[in-house]
Amino acid sequence: MTTSADMTMSAGGPLSTGGPLSTGATGSSGTPAAAGPVGPAGVAAGAPVGGVLSMAGRGGDTPAPEDHQYAPQWLELRESADADARAVDLLDPLRIRLANLPGRATGLTVHDLGCGTGSMGRWLAPRLDGAQRWVLHDQDPNLLRLAVARAPRAAADGSPVTVTTRRGDIGRLTAADLDGASLVTASALLDVLTREEIEALAAACAGAGVPALLTLSVVGRVDLVPAHPMDAEIAEAFNAHQRASDLLGPDAITTACEAFAQRGATVRVNPSPWQLDTRHTALTEEWLRGWVGAACEQRPELTERAEAYLRDRLAANAAGELRVVVHHSDLLALPRPTGGAS
Ligand SMILES: C[S@@+](CC[C@H](N)C(=O)[O-])C[C@H]1O[C@@H](n2cnc3c(N)ncnc32)[C@H](O)[C@@H]1O
Repeated sequence: MTTSADMTMSAGGPLSTGGPLSTGATGSSGTPAAAGPVGPAGVAAGAPVGGVLSMAGRGGDTPAPEDHQYAPQWLELRESADADARAVDLLDPLRIRLANLPGRATGLTVHDLGCGTGSMGRWLAPRLDGAQRWVLHDQDPNLLRLAVARAPRAAADGSPVTVTTRRGDIGRLTAADLDGASLVTASALLDVLTREEIEALAAACAGAGVPALLTLSVVGRVDLVPAHPMDAEIAEAFNAHQRASDLLGPDAITTACEAFAQRGATVRVNPSPWQLDTRHTALTEEWLRGWVGAACEQRPELTERAEAYLRDRLAANAAGELRVVVHHSDLLALPRPTGGAS
């Protein structure tokens, strides 16, 4: 899943937002991911300044290739920015709900949808008390292997954390798949789903009576400092690119709120913006390449000016003179209590 609209990127000429990548990758949250030959940060080997790996693929805006994959390098690059961005204010209401679950004494069963390399579990498991069984869902067996290898071992109170995996399509998830679940989580996923997939997810959670913490969905707003006259034009073209497919991109949060609320859940949404500064120059570079690349794919007439724009932005980033806020939202959906739960 990119946006966040995660996108798959392909190696191409300047600002090419080529087709599916061979070894593809993606980034979520409105970001790109690398594909093709990738370096440590998911950057195409030897790519010139304008020689972007740009995105394409799920969430990005272009149809996802059948073998669509998200680069582990991209997921690693974004993990610390994701961790800093997550809406911690949603944890207390979640903890209260989990504390009141029937059978709580035997531990929690958490289903992480689109787990990638397991970033969500590494962040959340140590913030919840009690034994936890994490069920990691993804379509990519390579990412599932990495997630198992890097799984958290201990809960906040030192209780054990174990993981199992389920390879498959989240779009087909049903309430029966969530039988016995205490919580559903996802990170950087919603914006690369379709309306039908989000409806199915909400129906599965409602049917199983399971709370859902769905984090880091892009909302289509970006702030760059210092400002540049082309910022708004690129942002509009990027958002149009995301909306050009049937993936929800910046509309995912609104759709998910409606889908969960219509099924009786209480829904809370808190901001979870990436705050990119001099600590994140590699991530910012990748994000810029994907963001501008998608904008040009949507509006090819922008390409010449956008290449100059990208060169300026990359130079400022390398000099430590660029700040970027990529706005995301986290959503907590608490189903109508069925028993003694609050
Ligand atoms: C942007 S990545 C996010 C990964 C991870 N949650 C994180 O925050 O680092 C999206 C993940 O969702 C998975 N994914 C996307 N669509 C999927 C689907 N329909 N079924 C199963 N997995 C899917 C991808 O393979 C990828 O690992």
